Amino acid sequence: MTTASRSVFDQRAADTLAMLEGAGQYKHLRVLESPMDAVVRIEGFGECACFCSNNYLGLANHPAVVQAGIEALEQFGAGTASVRFICGTFRPHLDLERTIARYMGTESSYTFVSCWNATEAVFPTFCEEGDIIISDELNHACIIDSMRLALQIKKGVHRTVYKHSNLDDLETRLIAARNNDDITGQVWVVTDGVFSMEGDIADLPGLRALCDKYDALLVVDDSHGHGVMGETGRGTHEHYGMVEGDGGPGSVDLFTGTLGKALGGAAGGFIAGSRTATELIVQRARPTLFSNALPVTVAASARAAIEILMDEPQRVAKLRDNVSYARHRIARAGFEVIDSPTAICPIIVGDTAKAIAMSKRLLELGVFVIGFGYPVVPEGTARLRVQISAAHEREHIDRLADALAKL
Ligand SMILES: Cc1ncc(COP(=O)(O)O)c(C=O)c1O
Repeated sequence: MTTASRSVFDQRAADTLAMLEGAGQYKHLRVLESPMDAVVRIEGFGECACFCSNNYLGLANHPAVVQAGIEALEQFGAGTASVRFICGTFRPHLDLERTIARYMGTESSYTFVSCWNATEAVFPTFCEEGDIIISDELNHACIIDSMRLALQIKKGVHRTVYKHSNLDDLETRLIAARNNDDITGQVWVVTDGVFSMEGDIADLPGLRALCDKYDALLVVDDSHGHGVMGETGRGTHEHYGMVEGDGGPGSVDLFTGTLGKALGGAAGGFIAGSRTATELIVQRARPTLFSNALPVTVAASARAAIEILMDEPQRVAKLRDNVSYARHRIARAGFEVIDSPTAICPIIVGDTAKAIAMSKRLLELGVFVIGFGYPVVPEGTARLRVQISAAHEREHIDRLADALAKL
């Protein structure tokens, strides 16, 4: 196509890409030549210690996880070539959903091709006129978009955002909702369990208490908490003793989570909560009515991963040890890291181009850490995000700290 015949879109997109390149903000996709593990082989860089995967328990290439996928592929083929309510559902999907519910301590669960999809199903399906969603300001983009969609497709749904982890601000908004004559339906409070860019955790007992006080339902996306938080890796609710039946503060009303991080690492997402909630999703959610199921191979692999997690809590313990060792070593290398039990250690550097340049330098030093800038994080808060895994040995963490010290 000649420049003269370029569409408005072509010109605009080319300008944006040139701007990103010029500002040093262009993201280059690295090509992996090996499975995800503590060390990966990257085209053009060779073997690098990997600190940017969410492979928190090192299960992405576990032999039993791989084998379960192979067997499901051989037994069921690629898929049904349709959505579940039209063409049926494979047994491994039901097995996986029962396993997730057991793992999470909920009555029921339902799976999707991603957590993004699962979250996108939640508010547009569950909200009705007169409802309000109250959301933490640092919630994941999928929650933000789910709320936007709910407001767009359902008349009279409201939304407000509270300051990050600020229970006083949340309570002010709950009181305002109670005093608002337009809010006649359900109040929803939604938060990440582990915040993906900060590596801090939501105060779930505090949120539960406020939800109880104001008749609100609590929804938690714990994508970075599953496999990581709590004694046996069930998530941030376990960290606080809030698994149903534990006798601690009441639990969470609805969870969303991903199978694309600790729980297998391929893809997939789920909701976990009451049977009523999952039934309504099956009957009414657009991502389940108009989109195919999680591939059966992935369903089988994810189930194997969750079974391993439940059988081998020592993996979670090793991750915990690695996390505290890594935070200590990063601090000794001269960088500030918050004290937190999560496996996410952000190093704030401010400028996006600087974060990307530091990430490239680390790669040259044999360490794979990604720099995040706007629009993934707010302008001026670009960062390197270091993520720890149970697959790491101390020597890998030492290699990371030595490389950081050279920056
Ligand atoms: C907190 C959180 N929620 C949801 C997602 C989306 O998960 P998925 O990749 O399964 O769509 C992510 C992934 O980045 C995440 O960090």
